[in-house]
Amino acid sequence: MSTPIIVGNWKMNGLNADSVDRVKQIIAGLTAEPVSGVEVVVCPPFTHLSLVHQTLNGSTVALGAQDCHKNDKGAHTGDIAPSMLRDVGTSHVILGHSERRRDHGEVDETVREKAVSAAQAGLTPIVCIGETEDQRQSGQTEDTLGWQIKGSLPDGFTGIVAYEPVWAIGTGLAATPDDIRTTVAFIRAELVRQFGDAGKSLRILYGGSVDAGNAASILSLPDVAGALVGGASLKPDAFLSIIRAVP
Ligand code: G3P
Repeated sequence: MSTPIIVGNWKMNGLNADSVDRVKQIIAGLTAEPVSGVEVVVCPPFTHLSLVHQTLNGSTVALGAQDCHKNDKGAHTGDIAPSMLRDVGTSHVILGHSERRRDHGEVDETVREKAVSAAQAGLTPIVCIGETEDQRQSGQTEDTLGWQIKGSLPDGFTGIVAYEPVWAIGTGLAATPDDIRTTVAFIRAELVRQFGDAGKSLRILYGGSVDAGNAASILSLPDVAGALVGGASLKPDAFLSIIRAVP
């Protein structure tokens, strides 16, 4: 069985001091009451990575970024290369988040190219997929996820897939355990269809309004290997509760 993983996506929040303070509180919580058998990753904004990495020094918490460029160098003003993320101690990178698809017009092909470059640089890509409210209402959830899986995950993908229904992000309305179970089973079947046996062991996370109250019911679902947490990951107590809710 694969190791469960809880990933905090801090999105575009706070300044350096806030991220350092938050990570110190998370480390203190995990030191006071250690948790075994769970990987924990925090993903601050780019400008906080270096300082958070220094603060994490020696702790079991890993560092992730929220995006990277598909190329590793060159004329790409404002972008960050995968090797630059490695250089500041990053081990994971979130790719294809619906907010990047929405705000930056990222399409599956871009996400796939980024996943290739990230893996080449030694990063673990966490590729996000998820249907919008309109797609859900019109019965297109499976078609949407099927296309995203096919388009966003490169051959030989060994990273992590995060199922984040767009309508559940930041709304306080997480998908129900029944819906998550059904959809994760569909995603698993698609992964196996695309990758054969290798698709059986890829980790699938759920994201979308995960909090201290609903984490246990979500994380105990079959085949849910962890959570990608937004808002609640900004509150150390809530994030620690979610980590401790891993069965
Ligand atoms: O990537 C995490 C995410 O989009 C979920 O955000 O605030 O609903 O937990 P939130």
